[in-house]
Amino acid sequence: MSGITIQGVSRRFGSVLAVDNVDLTIEQGEFFTLLGPSGCGKTTLLRMIAGFCELDSGEIRFGEHRIDRLSAHRRDIGMVFQNYAVFPNLTVAGNVAYGLKARRIQADEESRRVDEALALVQLAGYGARKPHELSGGQLQRVAIARALVIRPQVLLFDEPLSNLDARLRVSMRAEIRGLQKSLGITAIYVTHDQEEAMSVSDRIALMNAGRLEQVGLPVDIYRHPVSRFAAEFMGTTNLVKATELGLAAPVWVSLRPEALRFAEEAPAGWQRFAATIVRLEMLGPLTRLDATLANGTLIRMATLDAPHSAPTVGTVVSLAFDTARLTVVP
Ligand SMILES: Nc1ncnc2c1ncn2[C@@H]1O[C@H](COP(=O)(O)OP(=O)(O)OP(=O)(O)O)[C@@H](O)[C@H]1O
Ligand SMILES: [Mg+2]
Repeated sequence: MSGITIQGVSRRFGSVLAVDNVDLTIEQGEFFTLLGPSGCGKTTLLRMIAGFCELDSGEIRFGEHRIDRLSAHRRDIGMVFQNYAVFPNLTVAGNVAYGLKARRIQADEESRRVDEALALVQLAGYGARKPHELSGGQLQRVAIARALVIRPQVLLFDEPLSNLDARLRVSMRAEIRGLQKSLGITAIYVTHDQEEAMSVSDRIALMNAGRLEQVGLPVDIYRHPVSRFAAEFMGTTNLVKATELGLAAPVWVSLRPEALRFAEEAPAGWQRFAATIVRLEMLGPLTRLDATLANGTLIRMATLDAPHSAPTVGTVVSLAFDTARLTVVP
């Protein structure tokens, strides 16, 4: 196989066009993420790739091979769901072996592959336990082992970390990314969390109402959003008219909070403007600052570590930014 091609794929549910004429190419071995708000069609598109949802139109290919009319178990795919879908009455080993049952594999080969899959997810020795004896993170690892045991060419993840606490989400996402890279499997990962998407993905497709809003490297979508929707969905930003920042062009721009500095700490040549501080928030490594322009427009700024001068609420300060960090948005 060499990559996945999705061409003109659409799916409607009643009056809702859940997936609207999507074209995508995913490279072999790539970690590719479908990102977007609730209801934008991420799960529907993933289920069409997996074989759990029929296409109204379009084609899906693995390499040269058209797969959108094959049944799910013939597509060579492992899938990991949000709610683990682990069977409570089976042992850990039984759950992992479940994926092999339909494949008529000999008992000794089966137990070897189950052990191998459990070792891959750091659960060697847990085979005899029951699911209720495991933590949430361990349960999700069982679900990943069950997807891996069939040695699929493609791994699909639908919000696999959303039932875990914040700390565990951060360590598990690194684990999933590391595992995928070491196995060289193509992964398609669904999330609505833009930070999670940026941390794990080679590329991201940002979806909006069934369509692809922007496809690209995480850094490019963050730095060069093509629309207001993309600018706002990828993190906090200032969407303002350039003229409000003292520039001549009558266009709307996106300027990220961390691109702003206090003028006295900024290089000469950066664009400067005056603003009144209305709120300061010290978050340990990060200080957040809200300021308003003369016309009342809110400007959000974030700096690593505290600024050298100690600004206070109510003072007028001069802020600065590099115009190269502005993105014009339609
Ligand atoms: N089986 C179904 N029957 C009817 N409508 C559906 C069905 N599945 C999805 N939809 C609708 O299609 C749209 C896309 O749903 P989908 O589950 O793909 O969104 P999502 O991006 O995965 O959202 P979330 O982040 O909330 O999981 C929604 O409007 C949803 O209500
Ligand atoms: Mg979903």
